[in-house]
Amino acid sequence: MAEQRVWEEIFMPGSHEEPLWELFHENSKVSRYTQTPSKEEVRSRMRKFHESLPFEGYPRVDLSHSFASLSLPLEQAITTRTSARNFSPRELTLEHIATLFFYAYGVTRKNTDTPFPRPFRVVPSGGALYPLELFFHTASLKGHSSGLYHYNAAEHCVRHFHEGDDTQRISSALVQPELAQGASLIIFLTAIFERSTFKYGERGYRFILLEAGHVAQNLNLVANALGLGCVNIGGYRDREIDDYLELDGLTHSTIYMIAIGGKTDTSNNGSNNDGTATQPHASERSSSNAIEAE
Ligand SMILES: Cc1cc2nc3c(=O)[nH]c(=O)nc-3n(C[C@H](O)[C@H](O)[C@H](O)COP(=O)(O)O)c2cc1C
Repeated sequence: MAEQRVWEEIFMPGSHEEPLWELFHENSKVSRYTQTPSKEEVRSRMRKFHESLPFEGYPRVDLSHSFASLSLPLEQAITTRTSARNFSPRELTLEHIATLFFYAYGVTRKNTDTPFPRPFRVVPSGGALYPLELFFHTASLKGHSSGLYHYNAAEHCVRHFHEGDDTQRISSALVQPELAQGASLIIFLTAIFERSTFKYGERGYRFILLEAGHVAQNLNLVANALGLGCVNIGGYRDREIDDYLELDGLTHSTIYMIAIGGKTDTSNNGSNNDGTATQPHASERSSSNAIEAE
């Protein structure tokens, strides 16, 4: 009840005249007078942030840079992507984890001799500030115990943050609990907001959400190309998920979830929920395919 009272005090109800999103959008616009910190200030501020949260002391599992082969060319991975509505049981390997997480947020290029403060990654990032962190829960990882893990992009390794099968706890925090029930992997995209807002102010918040979309799309396409089903989840009870991840929910909070698992006949078969085909007609498809040709 005490928590309910705090929530009532800080919750700002929108009104028809002035919805909060409109205020936010207006206040996060770039104008001719918008200023951002100098490159030196950015570098100095970024030195205070971790490149990836270290979780030193927790059991570490190094990931390989030899990845699982993707069975679909890019064109097909894009055009056959659908949201899975259920999963079949599927044990994943460490190779799946390395592949999914590297293509989601992995480091690809050095930043030496550039004005940017961080090594570059597979996704674009406003100011190359990389404000996101990736956690995942699995109870289906071959040779590894169930629990909550954190992906360290800077070192391409995972740390086992919390042991135990927490599927029920996560499910009960979802608006659609069944989405987590059969999943082999439940991914949490979290944001350390200050990593972007110290430079971009209110607009930094927009940039963070846009970046999460890039990461999520990579996960969707790579999961599809690995023959796995995938669904993005926006319907989760924020406080319950943040509590589970031990985040304060204010400076660091969950902004998106993604469930991945075995495909079923009906989970990801190139059909929309209403049964209509999502595959483009043969005449709409380009005959050339750069990836296939290489
Ligand atoms: C931001 C976002 C949040 C979503 N949240 C959910 C969700 O909580 N539960 C769910 O079943 N699907 C969720 N989806 C998936 C959409 O329902 C799905 O993308 C849409 O119905 C179109 O179907 P398709 O992805 O198969 O093309 C979400 C998608 C996005 C982009």
